Amino acid sequence: MAASTFLLRRLPLCAQTGRLSRSNYPASTILQQGWSRTLIRPSASLYSTQATTELDQTNKPYYITTPIFYVNAVPHIGHLHSAVLADTFKRFHEMKGRKVILSTGTDEHGLKIQQAAAQVGMKEIELCDKVSKRFQDLFDAANISYTTYIRTTEPRHAVAVKNIWDDLLARGYIYKGHHEGWYSVSDEAFYPSTHVEEKINEKTGEKYHIATETGKQVEWTTEENYKFRLSAFTDKLIEWLDNNPEAILPKSRHLEVQGWLKGGLSDLSVSRPRSRLTWGIPIPGDDSHVMYVWMDALTNYLTVTGYPWKDMSDSLKAVCGWPADAQIVGKDILRFHAVYWPAFLMAADLAVPKKIVAHAHWTQGKMKMSKSIGNVVDPFTAMQEFGTDTIRFYLMNDGGLVDDADYSSELVAGRYKKLLAGQLGNLLNRSTSVALNPSAKVPKQPSADNVHPDDKALHEKLEALPGLVDEAMANYRTTHATQAIFDMIAEANSNFTHCEPWKLVKDPASHDRLQTVLWYAIESTRLATLLLQPIMPTKTAEILDQLDIRKDERSWEYARLGQGWAKDAESRRILPGTPMFPQVKSKK
Ligand code: MSP
Repeated sequence: MAASTFLLRRLPLCAQTGRLSRSNYPASTILQQGWSRTLIRPSASLYSTQATTELDQTNKPYYITTPIFYVNAVPHIGHLHSAVLADTFKRFHEMKGRKVILSTGTDEHGLKIQQAAAQVGMKEIELCDKVSKRFQDLFDAANISYTTYIRTTEPRHAVAVKNIWDDLLARGYIYKGHHEGWYSVSDEAFYPSTHVEEKINEKTGEKYHIATETGKQVEWTTEENYKFRLSAFTDKLIEWLDNNPEAILPKSRHLEVQGWLKGGLSDLSVSRPRSRLTWGIPIPGDDSHVMYVWMDALTNYLTVTGYPWKDMSDSLKAVCGWPADAQIVGKDILRFHAVYWPAFLMAADLAVPKKIVAHAHWTQGKMKMSKSIGNVVDPFTAMQEFGTDTIRFYLMNDGGLVDDADYSSELVAGRYKKLLAGQLGNLLNRSTSVALNPSAKVPKQPSADNVHPDDKALHEKLEALPGLVDEAMANYRTTHATQAIFDMIAEANSNFTHCEPWKLVKDPASHDRLQTVLWYAIESTRLATLLLQPIMPTKTAEILDQLDIRKDERSWEYARLGQGWAKDAESRRILPGTPMFPQVKSKK
């Protein structure tokens, strides 16, 4: 493997290391060896969302993560969604002046990858290198401004995984046991019999079993492996969620996890025998076992911060980022992030993430996009056809947290035509019209104390907009943010039409009124564009350049009515450019 397979951009790196394994909810038959409650060392704090004992939180950067992506198949648009969502919040917090860490990367161990490599006749690491590069190329093409790209096959990750394992073992939370249960390679998870259904293949008449939760095929396995005392954390997890009612978004998912916990938790199998799984991190001190891929994968979020933080100076520790401020995940991997992950962290006496944001899925023909169904949308092709920012906008405007959304090229084209070209582009053209504003100067800012009755509704929307967007983003609802922005733009356009500036320009007596109408159009374009920056970084930069807005005037403090070009308005020129949203020729 290449010596340096990770990228670190813009922020000082906190570490180079590690890995751990994945979980299941173990089946009924568990012979616990050496189990005794007294083995569990009481932890210093049950959980903490504030700070770990070692880390100074005063200057902590905002730390946001995407899930790390499996390399058994190339990326599709659903994967890109997780990444754009995280990147949007990253950019939003940067706009507000925070230092931000955004990590993404690839999940490269486990049976799923081992089997995928065997199928195509490649060595595992060759497949990992190839597909991981494809994800990285996608994120670069989509302007995902990650600060760390982590791969679980990196040496730095192995160090982190070994450390957390040793720590959990020393604290008495890992023991050797016997495990029987249904295992799904596709989900890399064990399921109890109550969550498994028998099916019959209609063509061959053969019986097989599936996990009811995911529909993925499962096989009965019986093996000796290491177990994590997940059961010891049921009450602590309940308490964490009761005390932090916004820990998981949306609310429906928070309630769902609380429901899972009410049923109690069984201990979790956290290793697989090497005879079954070779492609993974060996269990420290026992080469006959390989770490469960979810325990390995989840630890990536710590690796990125430089965990175990041992050789780091205090000043580096202070900016390493842990705990994560927001962890973006698809709803299908909520159990791993909202139950197993916080339990591992509590067991290691580390702070749990401040927020877990679970998004819904993109479907095609109402079925979840997935390689096995064959209904995936290639994100490279989509971005080539419609442009990167159009796809980013579509994902953030139409893909919600609660409801699944059906991907459609027609809808992408429709959003482009109606909202981007028809509303934003139209308002920009109007704002930069040479016929209405031949001097191209910024019109004089009208008094806010004496708003013209025609401009009142727009004025109010402009005043309210930053607050609405701020609230939407605080709740991780990009769909609400775009709705508020485009609602204001629609009002600005309809006010412009209503005021008929093309008539005002012909009447010298209406000069002042024309200036006011133009000012509102330009200010609306500026404000909307400023607020759309996290979603459409490239297009908005071009528009702001066209409006002659300086680079240092694009931060959150300028996202307020009248905070535009106050200082040297006289010298600014608002120039028409090539159409920002030209007509797209559909391939169909
Ligand atoms: N490797 C695990 C995650 C480990 S994180 C410690 C995994 N990988 S994945 O490649 O299958 O999925 C990565 C992300 O893509 C998940 O958030 C998943 O929900 C998301 N998506 C995969 N298909 C999706 C859609 N069809 N729609 C939206 N997002 C989807 O799970």
